[in-house]
Amino acid sequence: MSLEIEGLSWGHALPGGGWRQLFDGFNLHCPGGQFVVLIGSNGSGKSTLLNLIAGSIPAATGSVRLEGRELLRLQAHRRARSIGRVMQNPLDGTAPGLTIAENLRLAECRRRSLLQPQALLGLHPGRGDRRRYAALLEELGLPLADRLETPVGQLSGGQRQTISLVMVCLGAPRLLLLDEHTAALDPRAEDSVMRLTQQLVQRLGTTTLMVTHSLEQALGYGDRLLMLQDGALIGDWSAAERQQFTPAALQALYGSATVPEEHISRS
Ligand SMILES: Nc1ncnc2c1ncn2[C@@H]1O[C@H](COP(=O)(O)OP(=O)(O)O)[C@@H](O)[C@H]1O
Ligand SMILES: [Mg+2]
Repeated sequence: MSLEIEGLSWGHALPGGGWRQLFDGFNLHCPGGQFVVLIGSNGSGKSTLLNLIAGSIPAATGSVRLEGRELLRLQAHRRARSIGRVMQNPLDGTAPGLTIAENLRLAECRRRSLLQPQALLGLHPGRGDRRRYAALLEELGLPLADRLETPVGQLSGGQRQTISLVMVCLGAPRLLLLDEHTAALDPRAEDSVMRLTQQLVQRLGTTTLMVTHSLEQALGYGDRLLMLQDGALIGDWSAAERQQFTPAALQALYGSATVPEEHISRS
């Protein structure tokens, strides 16, 4: 589903007094199914932008539409069902005391409860559910199919992020927001979570906005690369255009107020 952000504004009080207008009439249009990667220096507003889109921080003005439908006016629980989010901390997305199967069941019930509230009563995964989950995990190439009864709290950070991603996707979101979801992982787990991310985005065709700290990810994933600085986009490159960059060249743009002419596409 297409994402249209128009005229988004938000500011915050400064610790020493005064006001900082971080977003001031921010616009962004993404066609349905686009996988957008967002980078920018610390404090440039990446997480705030995702929070504004998700409505977890109320925007002062502006609109966020998914396929023409205003998200910011939806009730919080409906908005939450439209949007799948995976955050940086592997502890955030899953319930540690519940098993993998129970977590997956929870994610499915959350989606179904939109149609039938009584579905929430059947939280316990049945034999059929377990078979489906095992098949899904195998299909995704994840070595967790035989660990459905393991409490998620016993998994590694990478495995927890894996389950968080699968849960989000079981909810069939209309928009996927990923905020540095591999930042807390070791390089091997980072690779496997990124491969799964790519696979799920392709499989579901969900419009995706992924914030990353990793320049390698920024150059290797997604259909489009955005660079944010002080709440404004200073770079917007297609997958073909970003081939002009090495990680070091991209790094050099961090903290710039504007991107030099030679990096701006004329196409
Ligand atoms: N709720 C808030 N109140 C005050 N300042 C905030 C709040 N949320 C974010 N900020 C400030 O807004 C700026 C952008 O933060 P953030 O979006 O977290 O940056 P990023 O994710 O790009 O590192 C930072 O300067 C941060 O201190
Ligand atoms: Mg952030």
